[in-house]
Parts: sequence; structure tokens; C-alpha cells
Amino acid sequence: MRTPLIAGNWKMHKTVAQSERFISGLLPLLYAADGVEVGICVPYTDLQAMVDSARGSRVEVYAQNMHEAPEGAFTGEISAEMLTEIDVHGVVLGHSERREFFNETDTALAEKLLAARAAGLAAILCVGETEDQRTDGATESVLKRQLERGLALLDAEALAELVIAYEPVWAIGTGAVATAEQAQEACAFIRSRVAVIDAAAAESVRILYGGSVKADNAAELLALPDVDGALVGGASLEPESFAAIIGAAVS
Ligand code: 13P
Repeated sequence: MRTPLIAGNWKMHKTVAQSERFISGLLPLLYAADGVEVGICVPYTDLQAMVDSARGSRVEVYAQNMHEAPEGAFTGEISAEMLTEIDVHGVVLGHSERREFFNETDTALAEKLLAARAAGLAAILCVGETEDQRTDGATESVLKRQLERGLALLDAEALAELVIAYEPVWAIGTGAVATAEQAQEACAFIRSRVAVIDAAAAESVRILYGGSVKADNAAELLALPDVDGALVGGASLEPESFAAIIGAAVS
């Protein structure tokens, strides 16, 4: 049995004061979220405050990126150890916005996944095709390439504990959520690609769907056999809408 994970990706939203207001609004809404793992992926400046405020709750705090090197001359970057030192639980890697706007490559992501693993950070690897790639019938070849390259350095144990988020780029922030059929097909394909590397890991790896997940479409997506949770953007910014999505994951 795979534990469902609902993770909110705030992207570049919320000052520390705003994040504190959010978490005090969210925690009282989670009394009935048994059996669901909850994550918030927050800007670097909010990490310490959210780790402190979420301590003892079911909410785990994730960074939205990190550098693969342990330290060095990489101005503006953050290492895995800098995150674990302040008790950050995990990190989101390879979000399509980082791939598109910050030249994130699959090769760097393989190194980042390895560094996160070595530091004891949980990792959520994002993959997904653009609208043009889907129209061209290239969805599976894009996912296959991103997974082959991104997962290249992980052993089976690391793979089993990994979280992979399928986020079709055309569904992010557009309101154009994937149909249940599209989400299931892509997530099953991702699991089949993990099985090529290690069959047992494919049974354990958790696969999230992301892209315009809202309170009113979450239940249908979360009921799909190969969808183990959701990575939520816009709807994770308000405690009420985020809690409603978490509620949809309670079985
Ligand atoms: P939206 O839920 O706003 O479409 O964003 C999805 C996303 O990119 C989560 O990482």
C-alpha cells in the first residue's frame, strides 16, 4: 500500500508573515487527514519558519530546488546539507518552470537526486510533456527520456522511496486539468518505466499528478490506480482549498 501524498508547491509566493498566517490556518483543518502525508514546498526564506511552525504536525516542509554540489563557488545556490541542517524534510527537483526558465537539465537532476538521497532528503522529481509534445504524439518518449536520464544514478532502494510528479506542462496554471484517462495513462507509463529499472521499486514509488488540481477535481484524480497523490500549485495557496484537496485523499 502506498501512502497518499498531497504536496503544495507555493512557487514564488508568500513572505514569512504570509506563510505563518497560512500554516496557522491550515493546521486546525487537518484533524481528519489520517493516512495522508502532507507537504508544503516553500521559498527558501520561508523554510525555517515553516519547519518551526509545522513541527509535531503531519505537514512536512520541502524546498523547491537545491544544488547538486556539497558546497562551492555557486552564487545564489543552496546545498542539501543547508536544508537538512534546518530540518527540511525534502526537495522538489526538476519542476517544469525550472527546466524552462532556469535551464535545469536531466543530467544535473540525476546528480541532484543523488545528493538529496545522500543527505537524507526526500525528493519529488517532476516530469511532464509540453502541449506541442503531446500534440506531436511524443508524450511517452519525453517521459521516457526524462526518467532514463534523471533516474540514472539512483539504486533500487532510493528509487523505491522516490516520489515522481507527473505534471503535464499544458495543465500547469491553466485550469486545463488532464482527464482521468490522460493522467492514469501517463502515471501508469511512468510506473512501467521504473519497473524496467527495478520491478519492486515500481510497486513502491509514489507517483503524483500535478496540473490544475482543485478541490472539485481532486477526488477523481486521486482515485486512479497509478496516482498516489497530487502536487498542487494555485490551490495550495489558501488553507481551505488545500485542506479540501487533502480531504479528498483520505480513504
Ligand atoms: P497549478 O496547480 O497551479 O496548475 O500548478 C501545478 C504545479 O506546477 C505544481 O507544481
